[in-house]
Amino acid sequence: MNIDELKSVANAIVAEQKGVLAADESNPTIQKRFASIQVESTEENRRRYREILFTAYGIEATVGGVILYDETLRQCSHEGVPFPQLLAERGIIPGIKVDQGAKALALYPGEKVTEGLDGLRARLAEYRQLGAQFAKWRAVIEIDEHDIPSPFGIRANAHALARYAALCQEAGLVPIVEPEVLMDGAHSIERCEAVTEQVLQTVFAELDAHRVVFEGMLLKPNMVIAGKLCPVQASVLEVAAATLRCLRRTVPAAVPGIVFLSGGQSAADATDHLNAMNAMEPQPWQVSFSYGRALQAPVLEAWLGQEDNVVAAQRALLNRCHLNGLARAGKYARSMENAA
Ligand code: 13P
Repeated sequence: MNIDELKSVANAIVAEQKGVLAADESNPTIQKRFASIQVESTEENRRRYREILFTAYGIEATVGGVILYDETLRQCSHEGVPFPQLLAERGIIPGIKVDQGAKALALYPGEKVTEGLDGLRARLAEYRQLGAQFAKWRAVIEIDEHDIPSPFGIRANAHALARYAALCQEAGLVPIVEPEVLMDGAHSIERCEAVTEQVLQTVFAELDAHRVVFEGMLLKPNMVIAGKLCPVQASVLEVAAATLRCLRRTVPAAVPGIVFLSGGQSAADATDHLNAMNAMEPQPWQVSFSYGRALQAPVLEAWLGQEDNVVAAQRALLNRCHLNGLARAGKYARSMENAA
């Protein structure tokens, strides 16, 4: 393992103004996204859509890395340039989602554990050859009104994340470690904070036990936020303060960057929350984004599967990237949404 190389890739992904475009939807997930705009999920439509994203002029100013899905990593632009090469030529680091989805955790009804460790060493070696320099694994933690998540459910997911992260570093790939506490449900922001704190504590204890080098990884957590159905929704400043408090208690300063997922927040909310955190006192790590829906929802709406809309779709992506780049420095304002 070359630690200096891992560190330099991790730092480049979260360089000033920059974050990650998560474009790693699995085929079932992209099918759902396309269905929302009445586009059929064929291999060519998926390729074309990703090509629109990756060739949007100017995104390299604020996009340090793009997460791809297995199929996408093997696809090419119209001119025949493989996507990882196309991105690298633009100064954007290509990455790959390597988990194989969250499945029911046996004997723990209502909880999930992420699969994909078997054979992962060989898959990582191939992905590296295909041009990936970092990887992503998502664990899913649901909150219910009773005793979910259980301590064991959290431990099982943290253990899998740490095994994945160690294999990535062994293979020379920067692991993005993503334990996502879901926004689904009616829980309060306080409950989200308590669960997120417990999850992150457990994840870092497992990463440490697995000898993962903190300097050569990135963390992709949820923000601390009330459940979607909770009648009391916290303000932007409350979300920012609770999220930073939780992270400062649990994430070692050696980790170069935090790249938040958007998790179902609106594009503007995700940007506003990120901005508020960066406008507070300086943090030990870069505080950045790795958004899927919060970057892509406006793009899908503008595109609608029509070639005539490609310019508008790319403009929508560039606008979101630009606003999140400003939020990286605490220089975004909600009023900028209307100016677009
Ligand atoms: P969202 O930002 O849409 O939550 O997606 C990020 C991601 O990569 C989920 O794994």
